[in-house]
Amino acid sequence: MSGTTRTTAHVAPPVGTDARRDGLGDGVGRGPSGRDGTDGLDAARVSWSVDGRLVLDGVDCTAPTGAVSGLLGPNGSGKSTLLRVLAGVRAAPSTAPGGGAAQVRFDGADLLALPRRRRARVLALVEQDATTDLPLSVLDAVLLGRIPHRSLLAGDSAHDREVARAALARAGMAAFAEREVATLSGGERQRVHLARALAQEPALLLLDEPTNHLDIAAQLDTMRVLRDLADDGVAVLAALHDLNLAAQTCDHVVVLADGRVVAAGDVHEVLVPEVLDAVYGVRCEVLTHPRTGRPVLTFTPQD
Ligand SMILES: Nc1ncnc2c1ncn2[C@@H]1O[C@H](COP(=O)(O)OP(=O)(O)OP(=O)(O)O)[C@@H](O)[C@H]1O
Ligand SMILES: [Mg+2]
Repeated sequence: MSGTTRTTAHVAPPVGTDARRDGLGDGVGRGPSGRDGTDGLDAARVSWSVDGRLVLDGVDCTAPTGAVSGLLGPNGSGKSTLLRVLAGVRAAPSTAPGGGAAQVRFDGADLLALPRRRRARVLALVEQDATTDLPLSVLDAVLLGRIPHRSLLAGDSAHDREVARAALARAGMAAFAEREVATLSGGERQRVHLARALAQEPALLLLDEPTNHLDIAAQLDTMRVLRDLADDGVAVLAALHDLNLAAQTCDHVVVLADGRVVAAGDVHEVLVPEVLDAVYGVRCEVLTHPRTGRPVLTFTPQD
């Protein structure tokens, strides 16, 4: 996007680094720092193109362990593409013209080099508008999150069911366990997808607009769940359109425009008119929340 402000990338310090799992196995080490000294997700120079068009152009993106990181940017800026590339759902990143090789590391280990099943024990992705056409009960849909944790031929164990029910409770959906997914409302379905990802017990949780179907109370519930997960030692990266939700919850934000990072860092440094006005083509004013001290943003059209 022409006229956007580029600011220096900052990386928020990890907040509370006590990982909730004692080890991921599979060669992905947990601990106070990864093999290359980076704790959490560290993606660098990620590019992705389709039909000769560069959708992601040398994106650097971090999501520290113990922090909630927000991935922001206008429609079409590349947020979903980036999350899908990071999750290995979309083909491996290409190298940007003139750039070095892309890398996607988690706790220092090469995430995309992991076989799919092992990667699914490290990260979970909650996709934007995920749909489930299968005639599944809510509990069975959430149990799908346990598949990477059990041997291929084994059925659900008592532990799997316990984890799935706890994930449903955490997502506020315990009362819906026996319902058919197909009968749920959009917001209820979105929370089931969150529960499925929670049942996967990931060390890295990627979410694509996890609040877009939710009422305000449910939005706050979901952001609280993300905060709690981060406090438990998970690295959380969520694409969000609501900049005020991001301002309230995130430790660290990355702003994309036209497939490039235009700003990254602490919410107080990035959620400012100098960045947002150019990126979104609006006039933004920043107030300070009287209780939390966090930014509160208001928007008006540019003349
Ligand atoms: N398979 C594809 N073929 C063609 N264009 C694509 C493909 N995938 C993504 N794009 C384009 O890449 C750009 C980035 O798409 P992406 O879905 O990542 O944006 P986004 O930031 O998630 O947007 P939104 O906020 O609307 O969800 C868009 O212009 C989109 O049309
Ligand atoms: Mg998207």
